[in-house]
Amino acid sequence: MKTGLTALKGTKDILPAEARLWQKAEALCREIFEAYGYREIRTPIIEPTELFIKGTGETTDIVTKEMYTFTDKGGRSITLRPEYTPSVVRAIIEHRLYLQPSPLRFYYFGPMFRHDRPQRGRYRQFHQVDVEVFGESDPALDAEILEMADYLLDRLEIKNRELLINSVGCPVCRPSYLAFLRQEAEKLKSQLCQDCQRRLELNPLRLFDCKEPTCQGITQSLPKITDHLCPDCQRHFDGLRRWLDFYRLSYRVEPRLVRGLDYYTRTTFEIISPDLGAQNALLGGGRYDHLMKLYGGPDICGIGFAMGLERVLSVAKISGDEEKTIYFAYLGERAKEYCLQLCRELRRLGLSSIIEYKERSLKEQLGRANKLGISWTIILGEEELTQGVVQLKEMASGEQKAVPLDQIIRVLKILERGQKKLADIDWQNRVNR
Ligand code: HAM
Repeated sequence: MKTGLTALKGTKDILPAEARLWQKAEALCREIFEAYGYREIRTPIIEPTELFIKGTGETTDIVTKEMYTFTDKGGRSITLRPEYTPSVVRAIIEHRLYLQPSPLRFYYFGPMFRHDRPQRGRYRQFHQVDVEVFGESDPALDAEILEMADYLLDRLEIKNRELLINSVGCPVCRPSYLAFLRQEAEKLKSQLCQDCQRRLELNPLRLFDCKEPTCQGITQSLPKITDHLCPDCQRHFDGLRRWLDFYRLSYRVEPRLVRGLDYYTRTTFEIISPDLGAQNALLGGGRYDHLMKLYGGPDICGIGFAMGLERVLSVAKISGDEEKTIYFAYLGERAKEYCLQLCRELRRLGLSSIIEYKERSLKEQLGRANKLGISWTIILGEEELTQGVVQLKEMASGEQKAVPLDQIIRVLKILERGQKKLADIDWQNRVNR
């Protein structure tokens, strides 16, 4: 039915069948992050606009072009968060979480908002899984985070992927590199797009973010930051590479990987997949050792990454868990009451159960069960009640057995765990748990 009311461009509904997959991926992330010592943190979707101007960066595409910003009724400028890192840092400072023993490890799932031109893999509302660690400057941590990301993508069954790493230096080495970069880029200024001519003035590092093919060609010939690192940044980068080798993680150094956010220092990285098309980053992140201080907090370093769930799920080979649901087909008021009781008990045991109220023949009820993709149907009429049994029908095989009323819960538990099929249950002995 068409009403003219549809989801906004660049946003999408996640319908129940697909939501299963999301749940599975989120559960997997949660399991892995918790195993690596991360704890969940949740912050608001709306934040003061200054948070992103200051942190994400005034000259970035995100801040200059893509933010959903509005003035609220109190006259305050509010932004729907385009990324998560600034919010975590704000929360740490606000709640003085930095007083807890470091390193602090946090993870988060949630929607982000960027008003970019929608295309495959690029949405205006999309979902990130984000991890951040604070208070550890050793490059072994950078490698550990990448090892965790690698394991996560393995578990999500994404095989076709590549890790790119870079170092974007620090306030010691970057200014002289930027001056040199600007000087070299000035020579080619007339060939750059309008945006890049502006970028050149404000922050030449942002030239590397340009998506225009001509500008991308030009940036290939510009000086590489990896040739201009100070000794400390070089040591950090060498350390990262050593630890990546230790974990046997293969990677490619990509000196143009500056990432479109201003806060990065030293390590930046992305994991890309050729299966994704033009928007090929599954996840991206890096170190941001001065962001906390920039926000007026203590001088505590940070590193993290965010993974786009839409992109990941478009190439992940995992499938949602099989739905196992019990359906009640009953005839008569007494059977209905019995089924309602049993249904309530099964639900409280965590077994997904459906009971319907419209009067239907047994045939119609079984037809409904088939349509609903039910795993097992419990059939109960006067006759079964008199005999103290229910008929249990395994829908996939068509197998049907009379099960004593006092055993039905145990039988269903066995079936639900997937340990046995109905035909394999030994009815001579009492059914074991
Ligand atoms: P980002 O590279 O802007 O980094 O985004 C991270 C990931 O989010 C991307 O690799 C991609 O998978 C997904 N993503 C970004 N934009 C879109 C979009 N429009 N539609 C669909 N997916 C998208 C950050 O956001 C940093 N906060 C990451 C970070 C965390 N750095 C340190 N800690």
